[in-house]
Amino acid sequence: MKNIGLNIDKALGTVSKEQVYAQEAKAMECIATLHNGNGAGNDFLGWLHLPSSITDAELADIENTANVLRSKCEVVVAIGIGGSYLGTKAVVEALNNSFDWLQNDRKNPVMLYAGHNIGEDYLYELSEVLKGKQFGIINISKSGTTTEPALAFRILKKQLEDAVGKEEAKHRIVAITDAKRGALRTLADQEGYKTFIIPDNVGGRFSVLTPVGLLPIAVAGISIRDLVAGAASMEKATDASVPFADNMAAIYAATRNELYKSGKKIEILANFHPKFHYIAEWWKQLYGESEGKDGKGIFPAAIDLTTDLHSMGQWIQEGERTIFETVISVEAMDRSVLVPTDEANLDGLNFLAGKHVDEVNKMAELGTQLAHVDGGVPNIKVTMPEVSAFYIGQLFYFFEKACGISGYMLGVNPFNQPGVEAYKKNMFALLNKPGYEKESEAIKARL
Ligand code: PA5
Repeated sequence: MKNIGLNIDKALGTVSKEQVYAQEAKAMECIATLHNGNGAGNDFLGWLHLPSSITDAELADIENTANVLRSKCEVVVAIGIGGSYLGTKAVVEALNNSFDWLQNDRKNPVMLYAGHNIGEDYLYELSEVLKGKQFGIINISKSGTTTEPALAFRILKKQLEDAVGKEEAKHRIVAITDAKRGALRTLADQEGYKTFIIPDNVGGRFSVLTPVGLLPIAVAGISIRDLVAGAASMEKATDASVPFADNMAAIYAATRNELYKSGKKIEILANFHPKFHYIAEWWKQLYGESEGKDGKGIFPAAIDLTTDLHSMGQWIQEGERTIFETVISVEAMDRSVLVPTDEANLDGLNFLAGKHVDEVNKMAELGTQLAHVDGGVPNIKVTMPEVSAFYIGQLFYFFEKACGISGYMLGVNPFNQPGVEAYKKNMFALLNKPGYEKESEAIKARL
């Protein structure tokens, strides 16, 4: 079986191969630090061996619970934010039919999401659409106290209990949270919900291969065994024992750090498949929260192509030269749409007749790569043989491993996120949360 691949050739106009390879010792030292667990944030390294250590019994437990929800519910709402949401959304969007919810004979429950915003209109519309529907809830929060998911759960739990009764609601609610601590753990134990544990040593943005991602992904009808198998194969391929030249996580980390040093402060993750939009959202959180600290860090941005060539294309081609681009390139599509011949040919597209739409897309991709490189945008390419759970598993693990290495190369702790607390403190003070009286006066005086 092929693996996903990495090609940095078109980034080498800005930094040289020698510069990247001069980072070999540092990159390998950073992988060793990760594996030896003697670096900053070493109490959050549980993700490193998740794919190879998850057991058949654990996977079966997740699948059985998913089947219960699938049998009872036409809609399942996954409640969570950040790392408790983006991995699931990324996989489900990438692999399931984009228009599945419109098909009467669909095999999977419709997956909806809540707790990733505080939009009253969003919650109102969600609550309205759930009226009269058989629905269930997967409530995901490591801390159990994050405001956004806690609010959504309070509202939807009441709606579910009112609709089907407290007893039946218990069988349609699954909680994924800390083993011992937190409000959600206490509530789940009190109510007798089925629960799964988010390991203490796995941070939110590294948790997609725990029940956080695996349960909702299984509910959506996607093979979590393939996803984990892909990740496990990438765990091997990026192991500390794999030499730098063959270790795509190390090469990616070294290249992006060299580009950063050369003044490329923004990395744009580009895809040519609209279904990959949330893969990029997941990636943005992974790199943004891991590296953006101590006044440092590449700003992770993302574009969907060719869509955004018609909005962001001008800036990318000719704006400030502080960006580089990492493109996820899919080699083969298993869908088939051919361009038909049109007698009148008023649109002049008959030269494409008989070709696959994907062939047009591929030429757009190659043309864009050359144009951007010519415009001074270094290009890194991540190739994916096809869109499948296995290769998305590889992609997740590759980016996670590279992120750990890259963060250490940058000299930050990639496994904390102290900056996320700032807005919460102000919000609680403004909402007069008990315990925030002092901050409340000070913050209101500043408005
Ligand atoms: O990466 C992280 O740790 C965060 O994005 C969290 O996942 C997010 O804040 C949600 O936290 P919790 O799962 O505790 O509700």
